[in-house]
Amino acid sequence: MTDTQTLNPSDLTDAGPAGLTVEDLTIRYGGNVAVSGFSLAGPLGWVTGLIGPNGAGKTTTFNACSGLLRPSAGRVSLFGADVTNLAPPARARLGLGRTFQRMELFDSLTVAQNVRLGREAALAGCNPLRQLISTAADRRAIAAAVAEAIELCGIGDMAGLRAGSLSTGQRRLVELARALAGDFRFLLLDEPSSGLDKAETAVFGSILRRVVEERGSGILLVEHDMDLVMRVCDYIYVLDFGQPIFDGTPVEVRRSPVVRAAYLGSEAADV
Ligand SMILES: Nc1ncnc2c1ncn2[C@@H]1O[C@H](COP(=O)(O)OP(=O)(O)OP(=O)(O)O)[C@@H](O)[C@H]1O
Ligand SMILES: [Mg+2]
Repeated sequence: MTDTQTLNPSDLTDAGPAGLTVEDLTIRYGGNVAVSGFSLAGPLGWVTGLIGPNGAGKTTTFNACSGLLRPSAGRVSLFGADVTNLAPPARARLGLGRTFQRMELFDSLTVAQNVRLGREAALAGCNPLRQLISTAADRRAIAAAVAEAIELCGIGDMAGLRAGSLSTGQRRLVELARALAGDFRFLLLDEPSSGLDKAETAVFGSILRRVVEERGSGILLVEHDMDLVMRVCDYIYVLDFGQPIFDGTPVEVRRSPVVRAAYLGSEAADV
């Protein structure tokens, strides 16, 4: 892969069906261009990485994908449908889930209650009567989704503990379980492993691989931890000062002098 040449899923013989696609995205904050002409293909069944030094425009891109930010130009598509003008709840109903860069768990609730909220939030914006008067089948579906997410993240033994009593590593797993309980087909994760130690990060990475391999979901992973990115991503895009500077497989990214140069002087210079 050469610099700034961007792939579409159709160009990749082993890529899955279309998940999240970003075309020629530009985002300005007032007069400042935070992201410029960025395109990305995140197929289902893959972990797609988005990396870059601090302030590169990763969270800005992420927010345009979830619908929190309206792009100045460009297009965002989900499963082949243009969602550029849809608000976050409408994108969630189509199957898009997200976490936040800052962790947002409810400390006074238990782990299970926090995870359950992920499922309930996924129903937000649906028929309000459906939310008030849930059927026995709805309740069974919620319980099954919560149990599956808790099992996948290996947090069953802490289900009854209050989230406020957990370590950062445990909280990150609860946060991931909450996103997974929403039963989304595509997940946006913004620095989901920050604060984890090496062993916790390895566990976290293997859960992400299970999600794409067993569920066939797609994941867009914004992450500073290069070991995690290199180990779990199928394909990686690199932004620097809002500009796409490289995209390729983990091996190609690791070898790229352009990527190395962008990271020089930052904490992740050893890409
Ligand atoms: N709400 C905002 N208003 C104005 N400028 C902003 C706003 N949010 C971000 N920016 C600017 O846009 C650029 C991209 O920021 P962004 O948060 O997307 O970077 P990032 O790649 O996520 O960085 P980090 O690795 O630190 O999370 C930066 O120059 C930042 O200062
Ligand atoms: Mg960010």
